[in-house]
Amino acid sequence: MTDTQRTQARTVTKAVIPAAGLGTRFLPATKAMPKEMLPIVDKPAIQYVVEEAVSAGLSDVLIITGRNKGNLSNHFDSVPELEFTLERKGDEGKLEKVHGSSELAEVHFLRQGQPLGLGHAVGRARCHVGNESFAVLLGDDLIDARDPLLDRMIAEHDARSATVIALMEVPWESIHLYGCAVAEETDDPDVVRVTGLVEKPSREEAPSNLAVIGRYVLRPEIFDILDELEPGRGGEIQLTDALNHLAEGKGEGPVYGVVFRGRRYDTGDRADWIKANVLLGVDHEELGQEIGDWILDFADRLRARRSGD
Ligand code: UTP
Repeated sequence: MTDTQRTQARTVTKAVIPAAGLGTRFLPATKAMPKEMLPIVDKPAIQYVVEEAVSAGLSDVLIITGRNKGNLSNHFDSVPELEFTLERKGDEGKLEKVHGSSELAEVHFLRQGQPLGLGHAVGRARCHVGNESFAVLLGDDLIDARDPLLDRMIAEHDARSATVIALMEVPWESIHLYGCAVAEETDDPDVVRVTGLVEKPSREEAPSNLAVIGRYVLRPEIFDILDELEPGRGGEIQLTDALNHLAEGKGEGPVYGVVFRGRRYDTGDRADWIKANVLLGVDHEELGQEIGDWILDFADRLRARRSGD
């Protein structure tokens, strides 16, 4: 989408990034640091997510923080002493990297207080978002910049006056790890009508293998639904429960899902985090060649070691 088309059609201007989870899957690394600050190659995961929001035209970004929020907010602030030193040394390259995060977007912060669930975190955004549709990008869910998704979701939201969620086909044996959509085909192979959502179903109970992933374009009515919601699975206020309410036709407007077929990494999961580092590392401008050569050599040694076992 061109910038002109975007400004003509733009109904969504704000992004909300919940980053207040406890990150227990990544302990002890996340004991004193939010998982969203874990680096992928040379940038913290949250910077990729803010960059994604900005490239979809959303430069007003609200990050919902929890404990250890200092690390997160510092990252988007300027650092005068560091900048001064780099300026004195004339190190333009590194200076650019420092400015990269502080000049990226208009970044706001809001505390969740207690981690009462993703739905609760999103509900906290009401005072900032007001009566507008908005995008939610989970701070630990990384969509590869080469496979843009959010622009498409916003376009579907605008065209269908709908809540739009992102879905991804996953192996049936993994569906119990995700929210799962009850989906009907539309005339577009990349878009489904969502008529229900089931949180982490067993393989036998799963209505599809379409998993909900961490991108949403929500209408402001979601706030009233979240306010009324009782704690669900795990005693948490679940965003999936509020979306299910809408999908079942109990709110205003339908729910559609955009089926994402690109590269995505759950950086809150240790194995996925390592894979993200490898996959983005081999394509990195400065490091790619060295990392790629090392991986090829290492793969040979690993194969030899395993065949000798
Ligand atoms: P997760 O369920 O992946 O986060 O939430 P978690 O609870 O930190 O995960 P564990 O402990 O490793 O299993 C998805 C997203 O919602 C945010 C998280 O920061 C993550 O980006 N979240 C979750 C909140 O902001 N607040 C919450 O209360 C819960």
